[in-house]
Amino acid sequence: KTVFVLNGPNLNLLGTREPAVYGAQTLANVEQLCQAACARHGFALRFHQSNHEGALVDWIHEAGRLHAQGALAGVVLNAGAYTHTSIALLDAVKGTGVTLVELHISNVHARESFRHHSYLSGVARAVMCGFGVGGYGLAIDGLAQWQAAA
Ligand code: DQA
Repeated sequence: KTVFVLNGPNLNLLGTREPAVYGAQTLANVEQLCQAACARHGFALRFHQSNHEGALVDWIHEAGRLHAQGALAGVVLNAGAYTHTSIALLDAVKGTGVTLVELHISNVHARESFRHHSYLSGVARAVMCGFGVGGYGLAIDGLAQWQAAA
């Protein structure tokens, strides 16, 4: 099965962006980490980043087509700031029925109050936050556990 790992705005800046919050690893490092996690579980990986909300919606729709064929393990989505603003991403998840893991590198609940609300948490099967970029690997491990239990 395929895992989609989708990254939203400003995550292309990982490594140089607020390293005290997000760490020193780059997005390329994160992709390698996801590749290794997927390889462990026999998943194919689709890894993407965009600063544009609609591009993320389109990838969720693509994941939804695999979901409809029974070929999707799930979507790990770090929507960045769109987490806190985007009804379009919420509707894309609802409309496709994909299994969603919402992910944040930082512990958003220990930060500014505007980061405490997520439009996505209510449609996510799990929410991962605060494990740094290691959370991406943990999220993929979690998708594998669900597959094994299904
Ligand atoms: C983030 C947290 C968001 O609040 C922020 O806007 C981001 C990154 C995280 O990974 O911790 O861009 O999703």
